[in-house]
Amino acid sequence: MERGAADGGPGIEVVETPDLDEAIREREGRPLPQALPILPLKSTVTYPDTLTPLAVGQPRSMRLVNDVLSGERMLVMVASRDPEAEEPRPEELYDVGVAGVVARMLKVPDGTMRILVQGTQRVRIGDYVAEEPYLVARIEELPDVVEPSPELDALTRNVQNTFSSIIEGIPYLPEELQLAVANVDDPSALCHLIAGAMRISTAEKQELLEEVDVAKRLRRLSEILARELEVVQLGSKIQSQVQSEMEKGQREYFLREQLKAIQEELGEGDERQAEINDLRERIEQAAPPEHARKAADRELSRLERLPPAAAEYGVIRTYLEWMVELPWNEESDDNLDIANAREVLDADHYDLEKVKDRILEYLAVRKLKPDSPGPILCFVGPPGVGKTSLGKSIARALGRKFQRISVGGVRDEAEIRGHRRTYIGAMPGTIIRALRDAGSRNPVFMIDEIDKMGADFRGDPASAMLEVLDPAQNDTFRDHFLDLEFDLSDVLFIATANFLDPIPPPLQDRMEVIQLAGYTLDEKLHIAKRYLVPRQISENGLTPSQIEFADPALKAIADEYTREAGVRNLEREIGTVCRKIARDAAEGELDGKARISAKRARELLGPRRFFAEQRRRTKDPGVATGLAWTPVGGEVLFIEATSMPGSGNLTITGQLGDVMKESAQAALSWVRGHREQLAPDLPEDWFSNHDIHIHVPAGAVPKDGPSAGVAMATALASLISRKPVANDVAMTGEITLTGQVLPIGGVKEKSLAAQRAGIKRIIVPQRNEGDVGEIPEHEREGVEYVYVSELGEVLEQALDGTGR
Ligand SMILES: Nc1ncnc2c1ncn2[C@@H]1O[C@H](COP(=O)(O)OP(=O)(O)OP(=O)(O)O)[C@@H](O)[C@H]1O
Ligand SMILES: [Mg+2]
Repeated sequence: MERGAADGGPGIEVVETPDLDEAIREREGRPLPQALPILPLKSTVTYPDTLTPLAVGQPRSMRLVNDVLSGERMLVMVASRDPEAEEPRPEELYDVGVAGVVARMLKVPDGTMRILVQGTQRVRIGDYVAEEPYLVARIEELPDVVEPSPELDALTRNVQNTFSSIIEGIPYLPEELQLAVANVDDPSALCHLIAGAMRISTAEKQELLEEVDVAKRLRRLSEILARELEVVQLGSKIQSQVQSEMEKGQREYFLREQLKAIQEELGEGDERQAEINDLRERIEQAAPPEHARKAADRELSRLERLPPAAAEYGVIRTYLEWMVELPWNEESDDNLDIANAREVLDADHYDLEKVKDRILEYLAVRKLKPDSPGPILCFVGPPGVGKTSLGKSIARALGRKFQRISVGGVRDEAEIRGHRRTYIGAMPGTIIRALRDAGSRNPVFMIDEIDKMGADFRGDPASAMLEVLDPAQNDTFRDHFLDLEFDLSDVLFIATANFLDPIPPPLQDRMEVIQLAGYTLDEKLHIAKRYLVPRQISENGLTPSQIEFADPALKAIADEYTREAGVRNLEREIGTVCRKIARDAAEGELDGKARISAKRARELLGPRRFFAEQRRRTKDPGVATGLAWTPVGGEVLFIEATSMPGSGNLTITGQLGDVMKESAQAALSWVRGHREQLAPDLPEDWFSNHDIHIHVPAGAVPKDGPSAGVAMATALASLISRKPVANDVAMTGEITLTGQVLPIGGVKEKSLAAQRAGIKRIIVPQRNEGDVGEIPEHEREGVEYVYVSELGEVLEQALDGTGR
């Protein structure tokens, strides 16, 4: 033993065996001592025939090493089952360890020591003979069991190969090892060399140590190596992906820097900076309120830090664009001159007194109490009765901007309230968009078709609408995209709907409903004369000196070419006439004034439109075309029958007289009585668990009389048999409970109305044949008369599946 300072530097004491080889040689051939000190190892396993460096810090282990060095230098290294145990007790140690010779010892300045131990034999640990001052146990050598065989060779080679594949992928394995492994022929030593170098679990290392059968040990090792190889390969795949991502990022960075340099060189400066400055200026101008201002500044500074190519950059820029374009402060001054408002409303619309009054009241209240919350009006009425145009008039009277928002068919609440910005292609909802378009924070918003809003899995737009229309909440309306509050309380909302029923009750509650009924023919004539004709004349570039509509012409247009409660189509047809005259005028073929008579109008408008409507209306089962006789002449009417689950009630609507209602009852009774023939598939109790509704659209004139009986029975028969009624046929006739068809009056007028409507076949009672004969030939042109004396014949004609 030698003492002295060695290469370790000052303070490092080295104790070295003079000749290690000699010491080991000394040991070889000599039997092992019966008992040896046990040095527990922390989370490592050593093998025979390997040189293991160990750090020794525990007082009892240092004592052990000191004692060993002064004696035979032998000890047994045993792994501990619990890697955390500081001074493991015998039962915490594995039962198999490695005996070895301490080759070298260094004392480190911190008081601990390092030793180098040459493993010699595998040993089984028997009884512990001492635990103090350190563990000493009886031991017994455990030699390898080797039986040379081709399999053993193959296993050896396999392990060598696998290991050389692994070594490149594992940085902690020194390259020299590859050579070493290639040069070791002894399978047992090979196992020890590799197992000692690999970082596998202590339990696995111990397992390899304990296996005395070398072939088995090799097999186990090759399994472990195969697994490690897989891990290495996976790791390198991930590594190369990461690498290529990084390279891409770096490439982009360089290109971008180059681009910047080129732009600067070209004197284009930093466009991005210019853009940011522009946005900053526009935020300044828009002067949003404090909370929005803060958000804008925050987004702007985020924008400054992003490269323009970043996806985020575009998102933020879009956001800021929206923000600066909103009318945070823009508003128009209300014109609260009531006389002026009255004038404007009258100038645009005929009658509608109730609505006009309500609007003037609103103005009066505004005038007296400027910051009272405005009402939310809801105009309910059929198409073309002037709901939208009234809204426009109101805006005009008040001097406000007008914006229309259609919510018909909207199912997604995001359409109203926008998508969150995290959504690709997100945009503000329709409310914020309309505000931007209006450019004013107090426009008139017309929310069209509020009765046609839907709801599905994407959320309920009605509840978003509720918030918009609630004066208690709409001063803090929050759009998802903008994610800021916007005050909607100065917006004047007017909703429109065709029907009240489908509007959710909570929404109805928020609104003041104003019903606009349809117009009578007489009213339509007034509207046409006062508003539609003058407007169409000027819109088609004509002057009142060039064209004049006679009253019968307007009546003919309204009556024969349109079928509506409102006047939209009437206006369109008047426009068509004007256009044709305008063409004549342009071609120089108009001498003097074009006077439009009913006949001229019919010539200009060509075949009536009504037929198309009939085709459409009778598309579904349950609708039959009837003929009525009113004080103003014959009329074609559609009789509609529907059913719904119920308890056998009959409802009849459409301004009908008592006699007509009674014929509906009779028709139903007859159809019920013939259920089996008409609809054999219909369950017997169908009529008692369904309600029937018969509707005769009101039209302009109240109707009465028994002559719709045939049509009602046909509509019902069509309903229950699911067969649509032929669309070129119209019918008239009274019925009895036994299904007889009785004659009716007004055959000539009805026939004319049917002919005008383009109907091809008219079903009339047999006993009216004589009346038909009296109709002049030319008024019967193109029409076939089918005479019937009982309902069965009617249905044969009407439900024959032809004329489709
Ligand atoms: N009372 C009236 N006086 C003058 N013109 C009218 C009147 N009622 C309707 N009109 C005209 O009829 C046309 C159609 O009206 P408008 O577009 O307002 O219908 P609407 O009720 O909004 O229908 P929809 O339900 O289909 O939206 C407009 O040109 C309008 O000026
Ligand atoms: Mg409208």
